[in-house]
Amino acid sequence: LAAPSAVDLTAEPGMARLVPDDFPETAVWGYGGTVPGPTIRVRQGETISRRFLNRLPQPSTVHWHGVRIDNAMDGVPDLTQSPVASGEAFHYDFRAPDAGTYWYHPHNRSWEQMARGLSGALIVEEPEGAPEVDLDEVLLIDDWRLTDTAQIAQDFDNMHDWAHLGRVGNWITVNGSGRWRKAVERNARLRLRLVNTANARIFELNTPGLEGWVVALDGMPLETPRPLGGLVLAPAQRADLIVDVVAEDSSEALLTSRDRDGEYKIATFVVEGESRPERMSSPDPLPANPVAALGRLDDARKVDLTMEGGAMGGMRGAMMGGRMMGMREMARAGKVWAFNGRADMPADPLVAADRGETIRIAMVNDTGWPHAMHLHGHHFRQIGAGGAPGPLRDTLLVEPGDTAEIAFVADNPGDWLLHCHMLEHSAGGMMTWLRVT
Ligand code: C2O
Ligand code: CU
Ligand code: CU
Repeated sequence: LAAPSAVDLTAEPGMARLVPDDFPETAVWGYGGTVPGPTIRVRQGETISRRFLNRLPQPSTVHWHGVRIDNAMDGVPDLTQSPVASGEAFHYDFRAPDAGTYWYHPHNRSWEQMARGLSGALIVEEPEGAPEVDLDEVLLIDDWRLTDTAQIAQDFDNMHDWAHLGRVGNWITVNGSGRWRKAVERNARLRLRLVNTANARIFELNTPGLEGWVVALDGMPLETPRPLGGLVLAPAQRADLIVDVVAEDSSEALLTSRDRDGEYKIATFVVEGESRPERMSSPDPLPANPVAALGRLDDARKVDLTMEGGAMGGMRGAMMGGRMMGMREMARAGKVWAFNGRADMPADPLVAADRGETIRIAMVNDTGWPHAMHLHGHHFRQIGAGGAPGPLRDTLLVEPGDTAEIAFVADNPGDWLLHCHMLEHSAGGMMTWLRVT
């Protein structure tokens, strides 16, 4: 086994106190054995250099989600690198071109490895122009399926989950704690960096006692901060909030979700004292990242991507290994979804683009389930009904029956995945790729 060095990122088994009080600790897999892994903080333009050491009993890789990275560092087995075997190491070394909130996670058997706890935050700080805040907090929101002794349920390859929303759990944590609390003062200004690290759960967030703005989505600054209303966070999506504590002294402000399990508390801010007599004025937008502007949409290359399959879908079968397979045969092979009628990873890219080309992808959701569509190596904009481009994102929720069109400039050479970030869906067939040369 490789010897440890000062800048290692080691994936290994560990113990975590996910559930307090009378419950035992939970056996997890974590970076550095901790859940979540260490927060990596750099300044925009700096280099991140980590030797990844795999001390798990199965191969793994590290993917740096949302970073417009060198293709060879993207961490995708068999597309950009070979999987790192148990006991082996791989050196990740790359520049962070954009400021914002990113994260890292495995990309090999990710539905199991992330359900066991592997993920961490990557924060790239603005060199200047960051908003003035009293507290800058990263909140990794995770969803666990625990047994009654607080251990991780081992049913990772449960086809019922795969054909429905994915692995939805029964215990929510923030930064590895089911009772996350923080003391704050009334009128204090907080920057909250929310990351949904769950396999499949979609959080519908509210913030009673906190008022403010969304200033960035998926790491990328909004041109105009958007007043905070309900906020939907699909798997892998991030939101940077600037909020003021408006709850009274000696009370609580909350982060809650109202989703398929009703309304519940995710995080508690305990208000003690007052930081200033009044709220601060509205924040300026964060400085923009150097992402290429879209070319003329009329001249863009157009591609269609139809999503099919899942329980209650109309799909009868799909192509696998060059031949048509029925649903039952597909399920035996662990595939229950398809992109453009294919359930396995295609040998050819969905589109091969030249650097600088603007690409439009119309994503048609012909299934009964929502999908969190994620593109590697690029950020895209959703094209609204009137043709107006929305904010830059790397993951977009597409509701059942909807068509969502995205556009982006293919400006990062290499092979890039496009997949659903509901991890059981991507494993079950919702995975394709693009080539940029
Ligand atoms: Cu965060 Cu390919 O994923
Ligand atoms: Cu990614
Ligand atoms: Cu999906």
